[in-house]
Amino acid sequence: MENKEVYPNPQKDMKILDAGAGTGGIGEMLKARGYTNIDALDISQEMLNLAAAKNLYKNLICAPLKDTHMEEIETAEYDTVLCAGTIVYGQVKPGAIEQCARFVKPGGLFIFSIRVDSFDPVGLGFSEKCQELEKSGKWSLVWKEKRELHATPNEERLRYCYLITYKILK
Ligand SMILES: C[S@@+](CC[C@H](N)C(=O)[O-])C[C@H]1O[C@@H](n2cnc3c(N)ncnc32)[C@H](O)[C@@H]1O
Repeated sequence: MENKEVYPNPQKDMKILDAGAGTGGIGEMLKARGYTNIDALDISQEMLNLAAAKNLYKNLICAPLKDTHMEEIETAEYDTVLCAGTIVYGQVKPGAIEQCARFVKPGGLFIFSIRVDSFDPVGLGFSEKCQELEKSGKWSLVWKEKRELHATPNEERLRYCYLITYKILK
């Protein structure tokens, strides 16, 4: 699928949240593509300090993604929320996905990666939460693909993750 089909006419100054930003890998990719209005959220101030040194982000928000109302972020504050390598069983609860959806304006996107072994098993709650939000009309699935996951360059174990994009409807 072409990017222009997923998000027609993206503005380079649209407001983006990089949730679980770490040291800013996603921010670097966005900056290289010309995006200028990006905030970073991470549970770790140390990670945010490293990201800050790269001058990628407008605002740095030190807070955990959680499954209850996150006062740090307004409803519909962002055009797009990205979350790479952060939503994992044992680290972030499934309800945090609903918070991320809340941060996005109707018409905007929530794009996240999640390990297959967190998403697929029934009972962990991640796929169930995504289906629940689809059934309630909160969002619709735009794109889901399975990719090899390389957490480190020389990793020998072959693991997989999904890259999933939802469009926020309301
Ligand atoms: C594997 S790194 C990914 C960093 C970056 N997104 C990337 O793709 O390069 C995961 C990040 O999630 C952050 N993190 C872990 N649990 C979190 C939580 N509950 N809320 C917010 N950030 C969290 C960690 O501090 C770390 O920076």
